[in-house]
Amino acid sequence: MTALAPLPAPLVAGAPLTALAPMQDVTDLAFMRVIAHYGAPDYFFTEFFRVHAQSRPEKHILRSIDENTTGRPVFAQLIGENITDLQRTAEELLTHRVAGIDLNLGCPAPKVYKKNVGGGLLREPDKIAEIFGALRACVPGLFTVKMRLGFDDMSPFERILDLVNEHRVDLLSVHGRTVKEMYRGEVHYDFIARAVSRVACPVLANGNITSAARAAAVLAHTKAAGVMLGRHAIRNPWLFRQCRELFAGQPVTRVSLGDVRDYIERLYRATQAPGIPERAHVNRMKKYLNFVGQSVDAGGAFLHDMRRAESEAELFHVCDRHLLADPSRLFADEPYPGVIARPNCETALTPCSLDSVSA
Ligand SMILES: Cc1cc2nc3c(=O)[nH]c(=O)nc-3n(C[C@H](O)[C@H](O)[C@H](O)COP(=O)(O)O)c2cc1C
Repeated sequence: MTALAPLPAPLVAGAPLTALAPMQDVTDLAFMRVIAHYGAPDYFFTEFFRVHAQSRPEKHILRSIDENTTGRPVFAQLIGENITDLQRTAEELLTHRVAGIDLNLGCPAPKVYKKNVGGGLLREPDKIAEIFGALRACVPGLFTVKMRLGFDDMSPFERILDLVNEHRVDLLSVHGRTVKEMYRGEVHYDFIARAVSRVACPVLANGNITSAARAAAVLAHTKAAGVMLGRHAIRNPWLFRQCRELFAGQPVTRVSLGDVRDYIERLYRATQAPGIPERAHVNRMKKYLNFVGQSVDAGGAFLHDMRRAESEAELFHVCDRHLLADPSRLFADEPYPGVIARPNCETALTPCSLDSVSA
């Protein structure tokens, strides 16, 4: 078998890898820049580019590649199933500064999987084999895959891992849940460990990694090459830096509520765009703050008050009241138990967007 291509050099040679998970409506250029300010991951992934007969790579997602000033490589993620369209899109994206092409085999939104793309493909390993072959043939550099464990259950998992080997996938990210498990319940880290022992390429462990300490525990359990962090990096953008510190045996950065007030301000300014009315921007901010609020206070008072803000002034007044009353108080490393980012997330219909997904 031909040797796998080397991955881009990580920030710290020999340390476990870190990656920011792709998140639709979240991991855009502005968010990547904010994350990089607090401590970049080794790798970024774009939101998924939708691939179908009429598709062209979405301009706003291309910006996260073309205007990337984070200093870290970005993989472009595709979601689709038609071979010609996937190849056409991969070839077009390869003319941009991408670290590689990533295939989404995990999105659990019914409107997505019903089209047999994303997580829907996990029901059809033969189709996956065809897609892997086609993308491998047209991607001379890094071809990577992000998958869940299966659709209803884990029965196709090992077959798909064998396809990963057969088609020389260069990096595999595994979210340790099935499509039907959505974002609920325990992550099956044992299955991530199985992937690590079965595939030739490095594996990134993904799912509910809440803190640097959890990242170290998941790495010890799974022996994965690294971790991919999503929602908890929205809550705590210092997470990548904290992971690196812990992995190096150094003291881990403590984050104060005053620091979090700065993060919110930075995120607010970075995600502001001409033409977006103040009220709409405040509402968009609430989607990020749903996650941030999980570590502000055990009673969820910040979340309660922030959800009622209707203007920029009201929002920052709430932030000042909750975060600057005692700015040196620590922001919790783990989410407070029972402080839910958004009620009813489990019943969401389109769980690949901040409109409906939460921890
Ligand atoms: C708002 C949101 C959007 C997401 N969009 C994508 C996406 O575009 N592509 C993808 O592969 N996964 C997507 N996911 C799944 C995440 O990449 C990740 O697998 C999942 O959130 C579990 O990791 P976490 O517990 O660290 O958040 C999304 C998740 C969330 C919360």
